[in-house]
Amino acid sequence: MIVTIDGVAASGKSSVSSGVARALGVPYVSSGLLYRAAALLALEAGAALEDEAAVLVLLEGSGLRLEPLAEGNRVWAGGRELTPDLHSTRVDKGVSAVASLPGVRAWVDAQLRALPQPFVAEGRDMGTNVFPHAQAKFYLTASPRVRAERRARERPEDIPAIEAALTKRDEADRRQISPAVDALVIDTGPLDLQGVIEVILSALPEHEAGR
Ligand code: DC
Repeated sequence: MIVTIDGVAASGKSSVSSGVARALGVPYVSSGLLYRAAALLALEAGAALEDEAAVLVLLEGSGLRLEPLAEGNRVWAGGRELTPDLHSTRVDKGVSAVASLPGVRAWVDAQLRALPQPFVAEGRDMGTNVFPHAQAKFYLTASPRVRAERRARERPEDIPAIEAALTKRDEADRRQISPAVDALVIDTGPLDLQGVIEVILSALPEHEAGR
C-alpha cells in the first residue's frame, strides 16, 4: 500500500505525512531529502549545480541511502549521516537547480521505487510520476500568505519576506508541482495539522486506514 502526499513548499507535507504514517503504523518517505542530499554532495564537491553528468557521478559513488522512519527520515552517504546538513541555507538555495535535472530525478525515482512498501510518500510528484498507481493520493495547498504566517512562527523573520521567498520557490519548483488527476486536493489554509491528518485518514479506504 502506498499513500502519496504532494504539495507546494511549506504546505505542511512533512508533518502531515509523518502524522498519517504514524496513524497507519507505516514509515513515511521524504523524497525532498534525496534532492537535498544531491545538492549537498554537489556543493561539497564544488560541482556546478546544473552539471547533470557531474552530479550523477557523485550520486552513483556516494552510497546515498534514505532511511524512512515514521518519526523522521535520515539520509546516509555510506557511513556518514547527512541529515543535519540538509536544511542549511546553501542547500535551500541550491536544491531547486539540482531537482530540475532529469537524470537526477530519474535517479531519485529509482531509489524511491526500490524501498520496501507500505509507506506514505511525500514530495512534489509522488502521485503523478513516481507512484502513479498509489492507492490514495493527496495534494496540499495553501496561499503564500498562509504559509508565510506559519513559517514566521518558526523563524523570527517578517512575513512579507518569507512570502516573497515562498512565491519564488513555487516558481522554481513549478515544473514538478501539479496535483495528480486522481488526487484529493486539500486547502490546508483553514485547518490545523491534526485537521489535515483527519481529512486524509477519513478519506482513506477502510482497510488502508486500518479501522
Ligand atoms: O520538500 P523539500 O523542501 O525538502 O524539497 C526540497 C526540494 O526538492 C524542493 O526544491 C522541491 C524539490 N523536490 C522535487 O522537485 N520533487 C520531489 N518529489 C520532492 C522535492
